[in-house]
Amino acid sequence: MGNPAMVKIFDTTLRDGEQSPGATMTLAEKLLVAERLADLRVDILEAGFPAASLADFAAVKEIARRMQGKGVAVAALARANANDIELAWEALRDAEQPVIHIFMATSDQFQQRHLSLCREEALQRVRAMISYARRLCPTVEFSAEDATRTEREYLYRVLETAIRQGATTINLPDTVGYSSPEEYGALFRQVCKHVPGIEAVTLSAHCHDDLGLATANALAAIRAGARQVEVTINGIGERAGNTALEEVVMALRTRADAFGVDTRIRTEHLVSASQLVSRLTGLPVQPNKAIVGANAFAPDVTFMTPQSVGRAEVNGVLCKQAGRYGLDAHLRQLGYRLSAEQLKRVYRRFVTLADEKKIVTDDDLIYMVECSRETP
Ligand code: KIV
Ligand code: ZN
Repeated sequence: MGNPAMVKIFDTTLRDGEQSPGATMTLAEKLLVAERLADLRVDILEAGFPAASLADFAAVKEIARRMQGKGVAVAALARANANDIELAWEALRDAEQPVIHIFMATSDQFQQRHLSLCREEALQRVRAMISYARRLCPTVEFSAEDATRTEREYLYRVLETAIRQGATTINLPDTVGYSSPEEYGALFRQVCKHVPGIEAVTLSAHCHDDLGLATANALAAIRAGARQVEVTINGIGERAGNTALEEVVMALRTRADAFGVDTRIRTEHLVSASQLVSRLTGLPVQPNKAIVGANAFAPDVTFMTPQSVGRAEVNGVLCKQAGRYGLDAHLRQLGYRLSAEQLKRVYRRFVTLADEKKIVTDDDLIYMVECSRETP
């Protein structure tokens, strides 16, 4: 069997995720998150919405500069108007792989409530602005905001127009988190069937979790042909949040039999990314949160190891990745202070046992410490 096809991870923790109430981050904090996302090896990092504020503009510009040489594309959001696009481009100029991400509401509900444009005016705006952005930047993503509630024939026309003007990625957001996996997958199949030129662009999924279906919907889109997913660490985002990066990534990695595609993500950095974002935003991770929650693993979960997501300790139970330092710290909590020589012996046994059992319990450790006293 050849290598699996790849799905691009478009992380929007710093843009859509930052819209969680109270999650606003300083520039220094955003830079820490950006570095961690680069360690994770996301494909695209959406750094912000430069037209929203001077602080957002400055953050996108600095992140674009700092990500040079790290193999990460940097995206900036813009409405479909020249001012937003120029600001996005100005902020992205120094990026190694800049992406201008333009969005336009396509559903009647959003066009009437948020824009004073009729369908045809919105279509003309997409035509002019994608073409303008493409003259500035080689990679342009177009998002049809509220795509899932958009009348299909109109949606097809807007997407065809965006592609003709040079959009390189087409994103179909479930902006209000209303879709079901069956409907969302069907939308991707319909778009593939009815939009000329769609095969030449990257199709992207962007889901919100209002009904708790964001991960299921994103996976349904992947099965229907999406090759990019827009996600946030811990699923943070406005209202109920966005699709959680760690959930999609681990579903694809552990269920290759079901999906047949993978991502480039270095999963062993997932827990540290989760903890960093939680600490900086003040949004706690619930203990039962899939993949990164403190209680997410137990010895009977065998298809996925805690080490594979970067967790060294599970409910106070040690894994091999803890290392000698982690073992020493854990033994001190249990009341043992070992000499360097004794620690070396216990560590050797610990690694052997961890290889066999994956998880080493406190009882195992105590037994090893006691034995190490007698048998040098
Ligand atoms: O949810 C949404 O529609 C968005 C777009 C701006 C992509 O976040
Ligand atoms: Zn969104």
